[in-house]
Amino acid sequence: MQGLAPAMAPWHMPRMRIDYAETARTIAALTRGETDTVALMATVVCELHHADDRFDWTGFYRVTGPETLKIGPYQGGHGCLVIPFSRGVCGAAARWREVQLVADVDVFPGHIACSSSTRSEVVLPVQDGAGRLLGVLDIDSDRPAAFSQVDSTGLSAILSDVFGRP
Ligand code: SME
Repeated sequence: MQGLAPAMAPWHMPRMRIDYAETARTIAALTRGETDTVALMATVVCELHHADDRFDWTGFYRVTGPETLKIGPYQGGHGCLVIPFSRGVCGAAARWREVQLVADVDVFPGHIACSSSTRSEVVLPVQDGAGRLLGVLDIDSDRPAAFSQVDSTGLSAILSDVFGRP
């Protein structure tokens, strides 16, 4: 890091933390009138991924068959292509239709490590206005215990606003 003023060293860089209300407004403006699920997913992923430096992988898995999730729009490194409902954090979120807040992926039974650097994860079910399961939103972090109830509440509000439209 020769030549960088101390203030610019990575450990001095200001932490970027998402403002969920502001991000929800931006996404609502960007997606007004849009009904295509993939277009909506791609826009949500882009806005979330660039809003917080805890988010190292941000992406959707879509329900493409009985008890089957397949990768959708994502940002970050490689994502596994297919996940059955019976496996992983994503499978659990789809199976139970419940948010999975995982502080330490190493102790989550059946966690699927698409990236060896992931330490914690939050996965949320995504439903349409009729309550049909469209898939899950998965956010991974290289930091342990990166996510809290604040993230679960903020992300759930954005998902129901975008995908729960009548
Ligand atoms: N870790 C997830 C799999 C998807 S990757 O994180 C992108 C899981 O256990 O379901």
